[in-house]
Amino acid sequence: MTSQQIRAQFLDFFKGKNHKIVPSAPMVIKDDPTLMFTNAGMNQFKEFFLGNTQSKAKRIADTQKCLRVSGKHNDLEEVGKDTYHHTMFEMLGNWSFGDYFKKEAIAWAWELLTEVYKMDKESLYVSVFEGSDDADNLEMDKEAYDLWNAIVPKDRIIMGDKKDNFWEMGDQGPCGPCSEIHVDLRSDEEKAKIPGASLVNQDHPEVVEIWNLVFIQYNRKADGSLENLPEKHVDTGMGFERLCMALQGVKSNYDTDIFKPLIREIEVITGQKYGQDEKTDVAIRVVADHVSAVSFSIDDGKLHSNTGAGYVIRRILRR
Ligand code: ALA
Repeated sequence: MTSQQIRAQFLDFFKGKNHKIVPSAPMVIKDDPTLMFTNAGMNQFKEFFLGNTQSKAKRIADTQKCLRVSGKHNDLEEVGKDTYHHTMFEMLGNWSFGDYFKKEAIAWAWELLTEVYKMDKESLYVSVFEGSDDADNLEMDKEAYDLWNAIVPKDRIIMGDKKDNFWEMGDQGPCGPCSEIHVDLRSDEEKAKIPGASLVNQDHPEVVEIWNLVFIQYNRKADGSLENLPEKHVDTGMGFERLCMALQGVKSNYDTDIFKPLIREIEVITGQKYGQDEKTDVAIRVVADHVSAVSFSIDDGKLHSNTGAGYVIRRILRR
């Protein structure tokens, strides 16, 4: 399946569940002082979550260009060194604004992955928020646990702490517990030796998170406290490049049809070969990633400069 077909199937699936399909917002944010770049699909819907504005559509889905190079979500140092992080990437997402909640979000994510994309159920793991006894004093997400427990065996459900299973947009803003879906792309032989459950969230390049289902119910305020939002919402984000890696049967995002043409062109321009020397491979991956990030930023109207967002773009370009 090509990446274009994979993207189209995601949007068609949620269209079939009465979601309005909207375009990606620009990557460079103009009217939110708490954020420089779009770091998640939900950014453009922040005011709907906070209840400051009402969305005409209660259900929305899209694919969003994201840039994670500054602030709370910054993957810059990972890029190229591993095969599954990017500065710029596409996030497939579906949202409910005070409409459906955990039950549908979980059931539909599972349906799409296993029935539409036909992913092997045995290779999927899910995680649930275990609660926290710090100042936020949050309860374990028992509702999500019970919903997953009805679908997947217990040994495929992993309990996670705040770092992995409580999603926040930034230092302030909408947030809530989340359930992630991870895929184990290793060979059967490797799976028999080490159970995939022990590799979830352990930075293994072939056991990676593909989808995050966030159950937004709080607002993190400037003073650090959490307040309950008037309504409960769903915010999901699936890493498009990782999904393509899983569905195209390759072991690296850079081996998908999204990146292969870029890698080939870099080989031609530099006279270097990809896949022969680790140090060269890292460099080629960095170039492929950063060229995309800079190109899409320019397309969004943000040129490299010496201040603010433009300076971040300049730093990526220099790298
Ligand atoms: N907003 C969530 C994320 O970015 C879905 O992971």
